Amino acid sequence: MVAFAARSMFAQTQRRAFSASAASQYKVVVLGAAGGIGQPLSLLLKLNTKVTDLALYDLRGAPGVAADCSHIPTASTVSGYLPADDGLSKALTGADVVVIPAGIPRKPGMTRDDLFNTNASIVRDLAKAIADYSPKAITAIISNPVNSTVPIVAEVFKSKGTYDPKRLFGVTTLDVLRSARFISEIKGTDPKDEPVSVVGGHSGVTIVPLISQSNHPDISGETLDALTHRIQFGGDEVVKAKDGAGSATLSMAQAAARFTNSLLTSFSGTPVTEPTYVDSPLFKSEGIEFFSSKVTLGPNGAEEIHPLGPLSPYEEKLVEEAKETLKKNIAKGVDFVKQNP
Ligand code: LMR
Repeated sequence: MVAFAARSMFAQTQRRAFSASAASQYKVVVLGAAGGIGQPLSLLLKLNTKVTDLALYDLRGAPGVAADCSHIPTASTVSGYLPADDGLSKALTGADVVVIPAGIPRKPGMTRDDLFNTNASIVRDLAKAIADYSPKAITAIISNPVNSTVPIVAEVFKSKGTYDPKRLFGVTTLDVLRSARFISEIKGTDPKDEPVSVVGGHSGVTIVPLISQSNHPDISGETLDALTHRIQFGGDEVVKAKDGAGSATLSMAQAAARFTNSLLTSFSGTPVTEPTYVDSPLFKSEGIEFFSSKVTLGPNGAEEIHPLGPLSPYEEKLVEEAKETLKKNIAKGVDFVKQNP
């Protein structure tokens, strides 16, 4: 296994080095590909011409999703894997990017944290497989609660000796997309022209949109309160509307596809900067190991983690609140792996 992992690590490094100078060859793996997020995400990745090899894994259904996607006329190969016949190792071997939407979604009345008991062990076990079969891949976590599942993956990688903080990301892109969309609804603008930095984490009060740094620092008072609340609890709108049938899948797939595209773009030598939840120096001195802020992505993952920039007093208060909850969410993930290695 060790020799196998080392060989695949060498192959990945070689391929990325080659990719930076010639035609790009990128293998992207989706773990949880037959689920509510996994299916539209697989479709969007099949449409992305930067992806040359798409590997879809799930406990059931992944070969069907792969066969379906494979009829879409883009050049990438698509393969589907199940746990049988070492499917997980086959899916992961040679991966450049592994995206994880696996796990159960929320039902009305649940917080993301209520998913912890089920999703923590799912993510832990997938992280072990990544450490064994694609230790150099970039890992992007969607499975909730992201504030805790990212620390879980980090702990597993540390225990396996494969942890590289630059290669692990929590996908918070949906908060950025929601911010752009909700601001555009207020201002009557095109959401594509509304960049918003969202910092902190990906759950309720840990989601902090920095409206003072957006194109509309004038938004204030009740409008700012309502906008901030809508961004922080946007996921609940979807959970409520789906009425027991789960949480955001389509918008989350779009968010994850966009983040994956940013990674692939940065592999090819064009750095991309966007908010994501990473092992961050920003508040480590306060015991907060992970934090979302703008990160510049490069061929090796997180190249530069940016500070939050100037905050309004309103945002300073939100960041303080976010830090309190984040600290607990992170500790919960770390403790889980310690107690359930
Ligand atoms: C979201 O932001 O919509 C997702 O994290 C799913 C959820 O549970 O809200």
